[in-house]
Amino acid sequence: MFSHRLGLLCLATTVLLATPARLASGLHHRRHVTHETSLFSRLTADILPRDDCEPADPQDTVTDRLNTLLNSSGAGYTLPLCPGESYYITAPLQFAAHDQEISTVGYPEGDDRATLVVSGVITNGTGQTTAVMGQCVDCDGIKLRHIQINGTRGNNGPISGDANIEMGGDNSGQLIEFVHSFDPRGWSCLHIAEGTFKCNNQTIQNNDIGPCGTDAFQQWADGISISCMNTVVRNNSVNNPTDGGIVVFGAPGTLVENNTIWVVNNTLLGGINMVDYDPWSGNYTNTIVRNNVIMGGFATSDEEPGEKDGTNAEDVIVKIGIAIGPRTWFGDQYYNNVSSSGTVLNNNFTGAFGYAMAISSARNFTVQGNILVGNTSFIGRRGPNCTSDDTTPNATAFVIDPALVTDSNEQSGFITVSDGDSLTCILPPDGGDYWPFGGNPSNSSSASSGQSTSSSSTSSGLSGGAKAGIAIGVILGVAAIAAATYFVRRWALERARAQGADPWRRSGYLGKGMQ
Ligand SMILES: *[C@@H]1O[C@H](CO)[C@@H](O)[C@H](O)[C@H]1NC(C)=O
Ligand SMILES: *[C@@H]1O[C@H](CO)[C@@H](O)[C@H](O)[C@H]1NC(C)=O
Ligand SMILES: *[C@@H]1O[C@H](CO)[C@@H](O)[C@H](O)[C@H]1NC(C)=O
Ligand SMILES: *[C@@H]1O[C@H](CO)[C@@H](O)[C@H](O)[C@H]1NC(C)=O
Ligand SMILES: *[C@@H]1O[C@H](CO)[C@@H](O)[C@H](O)[C@H]1NC(C)=O
Ligand SMILES: *[C@@H]1O[C@H](CO)[C@@H](O)[C@H](O)[C@H]1NC(C)=O
Ligand SMILES: *[C@@H]1O[C@H](CO)[C@@H](O)[C@H](O)[C@H]1NC(C)=O
Ligand SMILES: *[C@@H]1O[C@H](CO)[C@@H](O)[C@H](O)[C@H]1NC(C)=O
Ligand SMILES: *[C@@H]1O[C@H](CO)[C@@H](O)[C@H](O)[C@H]1NC(C)=O
Ligand SMILES: *[C@@H]1O[C@H](CO)[C@@H](O)[C@H](O)[C@H]1NC(C)=O
Ligand SMILES: *[C@@H]1O[C@H](CO)[C@@H](O)[C@H](O)[C@H]1NC(C)=O
Ligand SMILES: *[C@@H]1O[C@H](CO)[C@@H](O)[C@H](O)[C@H]1NC(C)=O
Repeated sequence: MFSHRLGLLCLATTVLLATPARLASGLHHRRHVTHETSLFSRLTADILPRDDCEPADPQDTVTDRLNTLLNSSGAGYTLPLCPGESYYITAPLQFAAHDQEISTVGYPEGDDRATLVVSGVITNGTGQTTAVMGQCVDCDGIKLRHIQINGTRGNNGPISGDANIEMGGDNSGQLIEFVHSFDPRGWSCLHIAEGTFKCNNQTIQNNDIGPCGTDAFQQWADGISISCMNTVVRNNSVNNPTDGGIVVFGAPGTLVENNTIWVVNNTLLGGINMVDYDPWSGNYTNTIVRNNVIMGGFATSDEEPGEKDGTNAEDVIVKIGIAIGPRTWFGDQYYNNVSSSGTVLNNNFTGAFGYAMAISSARNFTVQGNILVGNTSFIGRRGPNCTSDDTTPNATAFVIDPALVTDSNEQSGFITVSDGDSLTCILPPDGGDYWPFGGNPSNSSSASSGQSTSSSSTSSGLSGGAKAGIAIGVILGVAAIAAATYFVRRWALERARAQGADPWRRSGYLGKGMQ
């Protein structure tokens, strides 16, 4: 062990000594110059054993070691992860008692955060999807801070299972901050579950989330999925989610503020979703979405004098900036059910969208002060999966179907449409000078890379909710009920597959409603 580490240390030293020569040769990439010091600190962090944190090596015992520390150390225990190290875990880390914390020693931000790498094998489309599970019966006040989670979906499609991070349950006072969660195998980068509707008062702040999923048909994943009441979701950045950037499942009393959601190389169905009837029966009482910024696609071509718009190498847009009401997403799948009693104030939209906001099937909503800032364009067009009996409205900033919206007050400027159903069936244009010049937070670091791959998506899409519905049996579960539910779900999924139905298009709740 020791000589192994010593060898690596020598290697590190060699790299460092060699660096000036490589610099002088002028051949290597600029990124290496600017990151030289962090490269050094990362190598030393990897190499020098430190006694204030739990090492990642040996890899074959790491999952058990970490879980044993959690389940034998009691309430208030902090599991200290080592800066810069990657932990290849083959099962979720399970919080085991109240006020436990999982974090990187020294609370670094950026690349020095320890990374949990989801590494369980996938057989037959099932396997590990979750890195951290915080839904135990005694999980009040647990904290997940300053770590990264690599869900390792890679170029594969999603598999059925829970999110990268699963917290909530019948607990309160949980905290998730400065966490980077990306590339989940399952349906979301971060999910706070409702439990038996006693989940309360969690805080999700200062995280950097994404990418999550891809925009290929039904390979989508959410950024942040909130189904816990009185949760605060603030000051997060969500980059390249593909299903909903932040999906609010009713979650009454929840405050979503000062978050930034943007896309670079994947089309996003919804920036912020208030469309899921299940599991809270559309109850958005005292839920407030305010002061968020949602950025659609921007031109990636060079700005021409006098031109307002250019091309986008990836043809990406946000289809709906903020969607309110199940119909905007699911058409009539939820019959006459509505989203009710939510408040949406002072959100900003910039870049290219299908619609900035769409409202249909809502009651007692307040929608005021939401504005377009900088350059915008509204460029979705009818896609092949828009059903023939839907008159999909032309792309424009604010649309509402007033016949299905009651007891609400909306800012002026909404265009009245006769049919606001299933709006995620629109597609971005296939190239052309339609994307406004401007910028998103990625522009400084990631120039438009590589060639144009036209990767448009469409759908009669599901919001995250449908998938949460599929996963609900697992979420509920400690005991026999969970196991039973699991097998019922598996059976249902298998039956659906056998019948040729795509399980990702069905929600458990929907199935129940149709019986
Ligand atoms: C604690 O975790 C270890 C490793 O996963 C497991 O073998 C053990 O059964 C757990 N103990 C309890 C009390 O849950
Ligand atoms: C994979 O699924 C098929 C069909 O459901 C089954 O026959 C086979 O035994 C499974 N293989 C494994 C390794 O689970
Ligand atoms: C995530 O993990 C996979 C598998 O180890 C690796 O190939 C990939 O590069 C990692 N992604 C990042 C951004 O580190
Ligand atoms: C909510 O959680 C915070 C900790 O995050 C705690 O300080 C506060 O007392 C909790 N409030 C309620 C009403 O439970
Ligand atoms: C908001 O997040 C940024 C990082 O994106 C951080 O620098 C800033 O301190 C955060 N603000 C608050 C009030 O936490
Ligand atoms: C709001 O978000 C911006 C941009 O991330 C950040 O600089 C600022 O600190 C945030 N403010 C609060 C109160 O969180
Ligand atoms: C997509 O954008 C993300 C975030 O900006 C970036 O990390 C990633 O490398 C890009 N992927 C491709 C295939 O260009
Ligand atoms: C909505 O949720 C609030 C807060 O939990 C609750 O007081 C209210 O009764 C719920 N409304 C309905 C119609 O269920
Ligand atoms: C309307 O919504 C507000 C804010 O959520 C809530 O306080 C009020 O009780 C709701 N009224 C009805 C009749 O649902
Ligand atoms: C939205 O834009 C307005 C006008 O530019 C600005 O005053 C406000 O701070 C912006 N809000 C956010 C959350 O960025
Ligand atoms: C969309 O715009 C075109 C051209 O302006 C118009 O002919 C058509 O009726 C519009 N469609 C809808 C659904 O409003
Ligand atoms: C339309 O839906 C079908 C499945 O019903 C899917 O295979 C196809 O990819 C979708 N088309 C587009 C453009 O997304």
